[in-house]
Amino acid sequence: MAIMDIFSDVQQFLSEPKKLFIGGEWVEPSSGEYFPVENPATGQNFAQVSMAVEADVDRAVAAARNAQEGAWAKVQPAERSRLMIRLAELIEADAENLGQIISLENGKPYTNAYKGEVVITANIIRYFAGWPSKIEGSTIPVSPRGGEPMLNYTLREPVGVCALIVPWNFPLSMCAWKLGPVLATGCTAVLKPAEQTPLVALRLAELIQKAGIPAGVVNVLTGFGDRAGAPLSAHDDVDKIAFTGSTGVGRMIAKAAAGNMKKVSLELGGKSPNIILPDADIVRAAKGSADGIFYNQGQVCTAASRLYVHESVLDQTLEELRKHAAAHLVGPGLDPANTMGPLVSREQHGIVKGYVDRALNEGAELICGGKAPAHLEGGYFMEPTVFLDRQEQACIAREEIFGPVVTVMSWSDVDELVHRANNTPFGLAAGVWTNNLKQAHTIAAKLKAGSVWINCWNVVDPASPFGGYKQSGWGREMGKNVIDAYTETKSVFVDLS
Ligand code: NAI
Ligand code: MG
Repeated sequence: MAIMDIFSDVQQFLSEPKKLFIGGEWVEPSSGEYFPVENPATGQNFAQVSMAVEADVDRAVAAARNAQEGAWAKVQPAERSRLMIRLAELIEADAENLGQIISLENGKPYTNAYKGEVVITANIIRYFAGWPSKIEGSTIPVSPRGGEPMLNYTLREPVGVCALIVPWNFPLSMCAWKLGPVLATGCTAVLKPAEQTPLVALRLAELIQKAGIPAGVVNVLTGFGDRAGAPLSAHDDVDKIAFTGSTGVGRMIAKAAAGNMKKVSLELGGKSPNIILPDADIVRAAKGSADGIFYNQGQVCTAASRLYVHESVLDQTLEELRKHAAAHLVGPGLDPANTMGPLVSREQHGIVKGYVDRALNEGAELICGGKAPAHLEGGYFMEPTVFLDRQEQACIAREEIFGPVVTVMSWSDVDELVHRANNTPFGLAAGVWTNNLKQAHTIAAKLKAGSVWINCWNVVDPASPFGGYKQSGWGREMGKNVIDAYTETKSVFVDLS
């Protein structure tokens, strides 16, 4: 099949250098500088966006503060819901354009961008649109020492101005994970998308404006981590920071946030163990495990990157995995025939290739993949790759790769297996494939991970909490848990004597 044409709305959107969105207006960057956005399927630059620097951070935070204490504070909960539902509808109406923009800047297949990410984004905003009228305090029966009658109640208030720093792997839905609770709780935001994928966040800003969400509630700064992200995370007038990305940058953000004691939530890396028990439906388990590592070219924080297979079903599982890897068509995401696109950037491709080379040097056995498909030039492609590591000693068994590379290991004793599965600094996700109810729940209880999937993988729902143990993060997103992260609780005492 052929590469699809760029929709006329998208052409129009890309035709001029993109400005920053501050205080409800499109403004020039104070640096006067722009940077290019690259199509990772071709290596060609196709758009220019503004380079935000510290002065822009100051402007955007001031606009967010202004909205926080002004117009937005006057908007009633029911009206916030209405605005959010309107935004979800606008996202749905623009789904094809959003999908194409995501595919262009991130590389992922158009269908995954459009039917997957854009639809999920609208669903997330809709879910959070139900919250504004349900964020409530309580009355608490207190016992004053003097015996005087006392009324005590709590108020839930927005935490304030939130810095949202998001990565490139899900450039639109990651914005929604954070903007959903921001809008629901009555907070305001300065959003900094990743430098690789700034465009879809700007398109979202247009829809936010169109939905009638007041000026300054959401501000978008395109730029780099050092010049925009760092001053934003250190800013004294930011009340909370929510970050998704690498564990290294998460650590820097936690330090920067300490200056004014910002509230911090972090969603970081992973090296998630995926366990196949001997009684599992192997055909289904292998399919789920392949999807768990190859989806989004493996650039998923919850990628099923460590696969522990019971020794009695190892050969069968490897055979199935080889089949699934071979069935993938790797190529430009805008060719509807392709099921896997390129990695996001030359840098990411280099990281993944580096891991493959190291694994080979360290004695891991290559089952399939491991290189860029021969017929593709110019883009950052990588075949779906399966390694067998009998000794569990290669770095690919321990470190986050963030690419379509799974490390298969075998096991025989279940207690030792659980120990091996938990023997990692990460704790984002884990999975078990089995038809044994008792084993499933017993192992699920022992795994140190924020999400455990039994006979499935990568199931995420806006109603259910998501986040990491250990170095995979701080706090939970989604569900009612995230509402706590974006609100302060005030306890009010009234002496009734
Ligand atoms: P990164 O953590 O550097 O980038 C994520 C976001 O943080 C981007 O918006 C970036 O501009 C911003 N940022 C970078 N440095 C910053 C700083 N000093 N202060 C504030 N913000 C900063 O991730 P990168 O470099 O794109 O990818 C490197 C590795 O990180 C990947 O190979 C992968 O292992 C991991 N990663 C994990 C993600 C996840 O979903 N957990 C997402 C993206 C990357
Ligand atoms: Mg980085």
